Amino acid sequence: MSPHVLILGGTAEARRLAAELTARPGVRVTTSLAGRVSRPGSLPGEVRIGGFGGAAGLADWLRGQRVSALVDATHPFAASITANAARAAAATGVPAVVLRRPGWRPGPGDRWHAVASLDEAADVLPGLGRRVFLTTGRLGLAAFAHLTHLHFVVRSVEPPEPPMPPDTHVLLARGPFTPADEAALLREHRVDVLVTKDSGGDATSAKLTAARQLGLPVVIVRRPPLPAGVTEVPDVAGALERLHLGAP
Ligand SMILES: NC(=O)c1ccc[n+]([C@@H]2O[C@H](COP(=O)([O-])OP(=O)(O)OC[C@H]3O[C@@H](n4cnc5c(N)ncnc54)[C@H](OP(=O)(O)O)[C@@H]3O)[C@@H](O)[C@H]2O)c1
Repeated sequence: MSPHVLILGGTAEARRLAAELTARPGVRVTTSLAGRVSRPGSLPGEVRIGGFGGAAGLADWLRGQRVSALVDATHPFAASITANAARAAAATGVPAVVLRRPGWRPGPGDRWHAVASLDEAADVLPGLGRRVFLTTGRLGLAAFAHLTHLHFVVRSVEPPEPPMPPDTHVLLARGPFTPADEAALLREHRVDVLVTKDSGGDATSAKLTAARQLGLPVVIVRRPPLPAGVTEVPDVAGALERLHLGAP
């Protein structure tokens, strides 16, 4: 029977992995998307969209579609689907790997404040600045909604949803961004503090370089921990090695 790989997607790494795997003859590749982004762009291989209905629903899908390997290439902050994937893989015996790009590391000159959650980020913000560049995603703004005396510049791919802080300026944009553009944006909006999740990767790290150049503090939300016992790889090459599917 030909191998069937299910990629839990929503990241650039998932897209690259799908391209690599579809180049291998005889491999069936399905990417699963949550359906949060209205125009996700075309993906190599098959695509399915929407939740599975928890770990049990995902386990049913793995069995029903005869999946031979599962790659959880979801965003490092997508903790529910990662927990479900670990449970479904354990329940079905399907070999699974988590592809998670490494987190960012502070360098010389960085003024980072690591926090455990968006709520904790909101707690420390008033002590750090009054004009905030917030790039934590359009769904997490409720944590900052009570900060009525701060000005927020929020950047997201899709329009953010309320509740959100009353004094909010929304910028709709999708990375990658350059350090020069990010520095210009920070200056234009007279930003004095940044808030970001530790997403990792190159596509959105330019804001950290710009913050360092301008001497601005950064509140960085730490990643949720991975479920116990999962196998983690840092990149597409690592996932391919684990899948033992050979060269194209
Ligand atoms: N969280 C972020 O900061 C972030 C940033 C960029 C991209 N993304 C991407 O956006 C998607 C949703 O992220 P999230 O943080 O909302 O996830 P989440 O909180 O971990 O997942 C919530 C529910 O959404 C469904 N789901 C999530 N990812 C799915 C996928 N790839 N395929 C099918 N169903 C999925 C699952 O529903 P059921 O229980 O019904 O199966 C899951 O229980 C993920 O694909 C992720 O890679 C997230």
